[in-house]
Amino acid sequence: MPVSVSGPAGAGAEGKGLSKKLFIKTWGCQMNVYDSARMADVLAPLGYRPVEEPDGADMVILNTCHIREKASEKVFSELGRLRTLKDRKGSSGDRMILAVAGCVAQAEGEEIVARAPYVDLVFGPQSYHTLPEMVARAARAAGSLLNTDFPVESKFDHLPDDTGAQQGISAFLAVQEGCDKFCTFCVVPYTRGAEFSRPVAQVVAEAERLVAGGALEITLLGQNVNAFHGEGPDGRSWGLGRLIRRLAEIDGLARIRYTTSHPRDMEDELIRAHAEVPQLMPYLHLPVQAGSDRVLAAMNRKHTADDYRRIIDRLRDICPDLALSGDFIVGFPGETDTDFAETLRLVNDVRYAQAYSFKYSPRPGTPAATEARPVPEEVKTQRLTALQQLLDAHQFAFNQGFIGRTVPVLFDRKGRRDGQLMGRSPWMQSVFAEAPERLLGRIVPVRIAAAYGNSLSGSVETGEFVLSPPRGAAAGEPVEALA
Ligand code: 5AD
Ligand code: SF4
Repeated sequence: MPVSVSGPAGAGAEGKGLSKKLFIKTWGCQMNVYDSARMADVLAPLGYRPVEEPDGADMVILNTCHIREKASEKVFSELGRLRTLKDRKGSSGDRMILAVAGCVAQAEGEEIVARAPYVDLVFGPQSYHTLPEMVARAARAAGSLLNTDFPVESKFDHLPDDTGAQQGISAFLAVQEGCDKFCTFCVVPYTRGAEFSRPVAQVVAEAERLVAGGALEITLLGQNVNAFHGEGPDGRSWGLGRLIRRLAEIDGLARIRYTTSHPRDMEDELIRAHAEVPQLMPYLHLPVQAGSDRVLAAMNRKHTADDYRRIIDRLRDICPDLALSGDFIVGFPGETDTDFAETLRLVNDVRYAQAYSFKYSPRPGTPAATEARPVPEEVKTQRLTALQQLLDAHQFAFNQGFIGRTVPVLFDRKGRRDGQLMGRSPWMQSVFAEAPERLLGRIVPVRIAAAYGNSLSGSVETGEFVLSPPRGAAAGEPVEALA
């Protein structure tokens, strides 16, 4: 789903009195959403201010995703549309700088330059900290500038100090990037590069800025986030569990989440954190991809289905209300009906609270793309439908179990209807309720009245205590006093 990044212009734009319009369209994962926001941060001192529409923009960035086939196809059709806007701006004597960023840029940079020579900048996920320099060069030169190197220095050391401070109530924080797992279907090790963890002090400083800027919830991001091994203040390598404990000490940070994890990296300390750190939400996205050991081996997942079941059992022993989420691929080359039945069996054993499932799509440059024995498209479709029906049934049953319960909801946006607010339960369900706007940015008890496939609805428990009062307000003020 494309997301356009908008938000405050940043002090630089206002300070200089310049106002250039920046439109960023983002596809793909939360890391891309995070990266887009950082690009806006980097460009703010040059006077760029985010806008909601590409028409008339001085700079348009497409932050792209290469994970599946359809994701990259969309980039080229979007470029066709943008070319018209760029030409229109050009004919009125102005210039639109058109940039392609992200994983398609990294993987297919040369093809973009060849197929769409009107694109000014093409750069991968590791070089956007050099945007001011790239923009200056693009302004001087005609033709496309391609920057898909993996720089030796970390971009995180070169982002502005106030990076991400304005993300709002629920914020993302990248702690780890890249992947060394090399699942045979996946482009990430090639597009994002080798695994890298940020130092603990840098992560803590960014988290403190986010909280000072109004964040109550932080989601720690990484392609393989639980492989985090950042340098701690003691000079030793810290795992994700330890990092989470440190972040939980930040006053005002009510909720911590992390995504995406690999089963091989679910270390004891991280599992224990689920029981011992109240701020760590009872929700875990732990992709398994398939339930057959033969397919898991062909995918180079480095674990069996039973290894995965054992991890889930340990997690549930220690944290019984943990909601699980996963990713699945159907129709991996050579997957038989029997293999697929194993996936359904695993899903029945685990009972996910929600999950994502995809048809396998061969990605250029990955080992699986050269595999013989492709699964026919119609078989992939049938398997995906069967899997999604089962996952949907479990998700619905999970949500139904909340009817009549009162759950703490962090209201972070307005609902679709007037007078409604939307937020998340600890288990990541979207919850909507009639509520006054002043409850935005608070964690409020909501009694659940109805459950749907993807959400819950209910009413604010008046007379109950607001769980996180606004800063400066007395703790424990009853909801009705605030309403
Ligand atoms: N085909 C289909 N799905 C894929 N994913 C990654 N690569 C592919 C591919 N080639 C899915 C995996 C991963 C999620 C982010 O995308 O399930 O966990
Ligand atoms: Fe891709 Fe995740 Fe496998 Fe890494 S662990 S290769 S990001 S699917």
